[in-house]
Amino acid sequence: MLNTRLSRFTGGLFAPHRKSDIGETADRLRRDGIDILAWADPFAPDRSLPKNFRKALHAEIEGGAPEHYTVPVGSLELRQALARKLESQNGIIADPSRNIVVTPGADSGLLMCMMALLNPGDEVLVPEPGFPAAFSNCEILGAVPVPLKMTAESGYQLDFDELERAVTPMTKMVFIAHPNNPTGTVFRKSVLQELARFVVKHDLLLLCDQAFEDHIFDGIEFVSPAALPGMADRTVTVFSFSKGYGLSGFRVAYIHACAEIMDVFYGNVTTVCGATSSLAQRLALAALEDEEVLTSYYRKLEYRRNLLFDTLSTVPGVRMQRSESGILSWIDVSDLGTSAEVVDHLLRTAKVLVNDGTAYGPHGAGHLRLVHGCILDDDRAAEVFQRIRTSLLQLPVRGLATATAS
Ligand SMILES: Cc1ncc(COP(=O)(O)O)c(C=O)c1O
Repeated sequence: MLNTRLSRFTGGLFAPHRKSDIGETADRLRRDGIDILAWADPFAPDRSLPKNFRKALHAEIEGGAPEHYTVPVGSLELRQALARKLESQNGIIADPSRNIVVTPGADSGLLMCMMALLNPGDEVLVPEPGFPAAFSNCEILGAVPVPLKMTAESGYQLDFDELERAVTPMTKMVFIAHPNNPTGTVFRKSVLQELARFVVKHDLLLLCDQAFEDHIFDGIEFVSPAALPGMADRTVTVFSFSKGYGLSGFRVAYIHACAEIMDVFYGNVTTVCGATSSLAQRLALAALEDEEVLTSYYRKLEYRRNLLFDTLSTVPGVRMQRSESGILSWIDVSDLGTSAEVVDHLLRTAKVLVNDGTAYGPHGAGHLRLVHGCILDDDRAAEVFQRIRTSLLQLPVRGLATATAS
């Protein structure tokens, strides 16, 4: 009766589970007084729209809101502004009418990209821990995701021996989230240069999800692979206004690709994604023109990731590195229990929901993802982080327990 590929992903109506981004689980948990640090949504659930953006929206509404569709690929004015941004910030040269499409969020944009680029049976190399949609989109489309291990020891960079071993005649694409979700790590320039050589050598495509590109900490150089030699025609890059600007509720994102690939996106975007809200596009324009919001969010998020690190890294049994970007922190709790056990413990004793690392691939086991960028007020976030610390301190450290017993 149901589509066999989609029906593998159920909505949680009949099975209780901890995935808060499915169905109504998050609403129910919030009603129960749980703080959710499991949504990659800056400052959620609090109202956080900056004054400048509210003013821009008011002006639009007062002027007679843009109630009509824009052209399906996104308004020309926005695409022109995006082309300027791509050149100045990403080093990517884009023709607004041939290389850019606007979509209602990166999620549907990613699915459209993968629909357009993959045939059933094609294999996609997905370094993990990685973004779950990379796996599920492949499965929905009948393509085959091939997980490739990344480790804390390498700073979650790519292992090219693993990549070489994984290539088969069916390999079509490499997917990376850069910065990565869930680890928050940034692929280094030298790694991306090697990736470019690998992609060219094996005649592959690179799908690069840069939804988190806006906030890179500690002066780490951020390089867009599409700007590397030989990569402009082989890379499809997905961007979003959800994370860096905290505009997830407005649903606006964009994609860059060469004209040949973009022509297929232009032909299918209405059917697959639907048009992007005209008002959200006006807000995206205001965001691109704004000179304050990204800077002030940067300071706030840098403070938060330090606060979370300082609060949790000294807990016995916790291993973590300072996040390199945006809103996500990644924590090894394997000495305290399985990630599912620790998530349950935190839910019961700290009344906080965090993500179980196994959602991000086999090597996420024993890890948690925490969204240090949730909640607007820093003092309240500090109080929630302290609750997590107190709760983790209650758990015996496995290695220590064994050492004492033996
Ligand atoms: C890596 C990554 N890409 C894309 C998205 C989706 O973003 P959007 O809100 O633009 O659909 C997310 C959301 O969590 C994400 O983590």
